[in-house]
Amino acid sequence: MSKRRVLTGITTTGTPHLGNYVGAIRPAVAASKSPDVDAYLFLADYHALIKCQNPETVAESSRQIAATWLASGLDPNKAHFYRQSDIPEITELCWILTCNAAKGLMNRAHAYKAAVQQNEEAGEDPDYAVTMGLFSYPVLMAADILVFNAHDVPVGRDQIQHVEMARDIAQRFNHNFKPVFTLPQAVVDDNVAVLQGLDGRKMSKTYGNTIPLFETPKKLQKAINKIKTNLLEPGEPKDPDDSTVFQLWSAFACDDARAEMREAFLQGIGWGDAKKKLFELIDQSLGESRERYQQMMTNPQQLEDVLQAGAKRVRSQATELLAEVRDAVGLRPYSR
Ligand code: TRP
Repeated sequence: MSKRRVLTGITTTGTPHLGNYVGAIRPAVAASKSPDVDAYLFLADYHALIKCQNPETVAESSRQIAATWLASGLDPNKAHFYRQSDIPEITELCWILTCNAAKGLMNRAHAYKAAVQQNEEAGEDPDYAVTMGLFSYPVLMAADILVFNAHDVPVGRDQIQHVEMARDIAQRFNHNFKPVFTLPQAVVDDNVAVLQGLDGRKMSKTYGNTIPLFETPKKLQKAINKIKTNLLEPGEPKDPDDSTVFQLWSAFACDDARAEMREAFLQGIGWGDAKKKLFELIDQSLGESRERYQQMMTNPQQLEDVLQAGAKRVRSQATELLAEVRDAVGLRPYSR
């Protein structure tokens, strides 16, 4: 049986937090090790430009995110790990697809629609601060996916629509020109934990309630101490299923340790104690990765080399596909 080609992009904005780690990084790294999978994981740095126009931040986030994935155990010799901006064929394909994608389809993309709605609510011009990048970003995403003929695209719920658009665009191209593209499908894993943040809502940069992933142990401890709890005293039984502390514990503990902590909650463990144990567990689970992360962040050349090698490994596939696509649309040498 041939392997499934599984591809996903990581937008290089922000600094990864525990929620990203548990909800996205850890499961994707695990999946990339499966023998039935040919994994393509890439740093979507062109996508980052849609959200961020500060060059220093763009550069720094990309480096941090690359280091985070590698430090978290992604093996660049097994999975294909590359930077989108190192594969110029992606932007080349993006333009060709743009000329074949219906504008009406893009009008329905939810990121664009949300921006317009916000403007309307604020009494602004509907397209205020909407760039062409934001508007046509599903086409870039289609190019990311189609350039490597991916079968499966693991994404969060909010991205299903974009993968369906990629499929739509591919289908239309195959029909109008030549069947060059594999039709991709979105894969959503409902079992992945959505971590709660400090205030009990979903952990998200938007809410400012995150716990850092590879900062110093001191910062980790400080964040954990800020997790919101109820006012129950030590000795009073606590409901583990209603606690962010327990949820975080569960995301890192083995089955036995999870059962023990559940019991400790029912026996009335104090919040201070529970948080101290939680800090120790997470600090220990992430300690080695954190060291690797720090080492990579102080050695950017090594990171750069890994990514250059990653680009080299996949680029010939992109070049081959583009040759077919160019020919299909009529961009041909005169001599033929
Ligand atoms: N847009 C995706 C996100 O914000 C990231 C992404 C870019 C992506 N290109 C992709 C995901 C291609 C899957 C396939 O999460």
